[in-house]
Amino acid sequence: MAYNLINTTPPQGKKTPLTTGEKPLIDSSGRTINYLRLSVTDRCDLRCSYCMPERMKFLPKNEVLNFEELERLVDVFASRGVRKLRITGGEPLVRKDIVKLLEKLGEKKQNSGIHEIALTTNATLLTKYAEDLQKFGIGRINISLDTLNKEMFKTLTRRDVFDDVMSGIHAAKKAGLHIKINTVVLKDSNEKEIPEIVIWAHENEFDISLIELMPMGEGMAHRSRDFSSLKDVKTRLEQQWKLTSETFSTGGPSRYYRVKETGGRIGFISPLTDNFCDGCNRIRVTCTGMLHTCLGHEGGIDLKPAVRSDDWLNNTNEMLDHALMLKPAKHNFEVSKLDTPSTQRTMSVTGG
Ligand code: GTP
Ligand code: 5AD
Ligand code: SF4
Repeated sequence: MAYNLINTTPPQGKKTPLTTGEKPLIDSSGRTINYLRLSVTDRCDLRCSYCMPERMKFLPKNEVLNFEELERLVDVFASRGVRKLRITGGEPLVRKDIVKLLEKLGEKKQNSGIHEIALTTNATLLTKYAEDLQKFGIGRINISLDTLNKEMFKTLTRRDVFDDVMSGIHAAKKAGLHIKINTVVLKDSNEKEIPEIVIWAHENEFDISLIELMPMGEGMAHRSRDFSSLKDVKTRLEQQWKLTSETFSTGGPSRYYRVKETGGRIGFISPLTDNFCDGCNRIRVTCTGMLHTCLGHEGGIDLKPAVRSDDWLNNTNEMLDHALMLKPAKHNFEVSKLDTPSTQRTMSVTGG
């Protein structure tokens, strides 16, 4: 499958000082990396039961990169051909002074090779931040939402903030942000609600992606019980709707279909039942500067010493060359091994 980045034309007449014609990021499988998913915090104001335990041990604060260091990273990646940047977490909007970082990153759309900046959020703080996001050019946001039922929301996230989330979503819509809903499908939980969530999303003119539960992080029980195959979910949806495959791609792992009856778009992110690793164009960096070449593998390369050094540009570049050679061909997730996590770190550390 070809991955076409949307918005690949650089802003006309703008200088790109760090787009210096450095070598592109091509991994040992020949895949070009043009999408950086940067986690700015591993903290979150929710506790989704499949994502993190109630008493989560967070990364040490003194190891978290400051804004200048995060910007350095973005600059190096941009100079190596990264065109799409996703700010993620944890919940990125809980990071102190996040708007200052977003403003700086927004400027990079004018003066670096970055053409698109997107954000993943749980929407609890969107009422406060939606207009800033629009102002700073974060045009697309992916909102994690697994249910429209207030009680189920409280059970799944262990927090009673459904109303804040709904207000946040409506503030984002009002601010003119392009919204995609991300829903992890869980058997015997929100699975039955999926058609209703899709209809709600499409009525609001949001795209929606359904996501398969991935075995990440220790201590989250019952993954094999909670896992729902999106192959089966899609088959069931096709009994009530006509789904037509779309060539549309955002550069992410979603495979999109148009639903004839609602007119909206639905994506399937099926790492376990429909592998998409051949087309992987992504690399991840955590808030402490740990580079993970794949969501589904242990191990990473610590960019922090390089980013914090005087010669950060050359040192970080050198680390990237090394990392590229280590990117695995595919993830380790398997349906038969759902109760054995493929990674000790949770999605909230790696960045969703
Ligand atoms: P955008 O086009 O950037 O909106 O991407 P997308 O809709 O294709 O995916 P998104 O960025 O919203 O990511 C949604 C979820 O997909 C993440 O939270 C992960 O659960 C999963 N995901 C994203 N990238 C990968 C990947 O490289 N491997 C796997 N296994 N899952 C991924
Ligand atoms: N498997 C799949 N998705 C997960 N997320 C968090 N943990 C997992 C997991 N184990 C999702 C959240 C959110 C995004 C940040 O990652 O629901 O959509
Ligand atoms: Fe927070 Fe997202 Fe994890 Fe839920 S899935 S606890 S919103 S990081």
